[in-house]
Amino acid sequence: MTQTHELSPNTHGHTRRIALLVLGGLALAVLLHVDAGWWTAPLAILAAGALLHLVVGGALLLVGAVLLRRRGRPEGVPRGQLIRWPRLYDGFVRVLSRGRESRLRARWLELAAPQPGEVVLDVGCGTGTLLLAAAERVGEEGTLRGIDGAPEMIERARAKARARGVTNMELAVGSADRLPYPDASCDVVLCTLVLHHLPPDLQRAALAEMRRVARPGARAVIVDLSPRTGLLQRLGSLVALVHGDAVGRVIELEAALRSLGAREITVHDSGMGALAATRARFP
Ligand SMILES: C[S@@+](CC[C@H](N)C(=O)[O-])C[C@H]1O[C@@H](n2cnc3c(N)ncnc32)[C@H](O)[C@@H]1O
Repeated sequence: MTQTHELSPNTHGHTRRIALLVLGGLALAVLLHVDAGWWTAPLAILAAGALLHLVVGGALLLVGAVLLRRRGRPEGVPRGQLIRWPRLYDGFVRVLSRGRESRLRARWLELAAPQPGEVVLDVGCGTGTLLLAAAERVGEEGTLRGIDGAPEMIERARAKARARGVTNMELAVGSADRLPYPDASCDVVLCTLVLHHLPPDLQRAALAEMRRVARPGARAVIVDLSPRTGLLQRLGSLVALVHGDAVGRVIELEAALRSLGAREITVHDSGMGALAATRARFP
């Protein structure tokens, strides 16, 4: 799909989440008070869905809170939800993408079309999987830049690059809103599954930084949760289930890109549930 119409206003994830839990609770209450009949099956599914939502979301919040409390947020560490378990994360992405990760990453890269010798920047690069997928395209004369707020993710990205013999990868720990690169120094800017980890002001600041470091004519590809994906896509999406209200947290990307002077903005099917791939060109 390629859509060019205006973004609809962000939906209210909290409201949906609460509605699901209330409906699930009601369904459970009805189930407990009636004799089971075939017609109770949809109620049971609704109640189970709400319970799963509650259990998975609650458990993740609890684990995150405990680990954050135990490890603390070291001084100077960026705002945003950092991921500190790189191996677990890689496994998690494989599950979320239902084993199609390489194909999906190739599809996202295809939108940016990195060329031999170009400089590719991945903001919030995580464990470097996308940059490694770009390595062959830019060749040895190209440069792969990756930045992430979590040192653990950068460490794993370095290890993966070493293991694959990729030597032109420059990795840094830092924040998306303070990119350590000169103005107009990147041909391609990527940012996948990151924006929903940042508060709205940081999302805007990160986009402005991407604009700053982009060379004239540079391509940007941003993959993230989008209110423009259909309700069914979202309901069937593990990413949306795990993140609950995160769809409503992502800012109106097209408008934000336009305000930064971006052109040729198109939105594409990311191939992954509730995520959309937005492509733009900076003048
Ligand atoms: C869901 S992961 C996505 C990783 C990678 N882009 C991918 O496609 O697999 C989100 C990443 O954003 C990073 N992150 C969160 N806040 C950040 C910030 N302020 N600056 C840079 N990275 C940040 C997290 O540490 C995490 O690695």
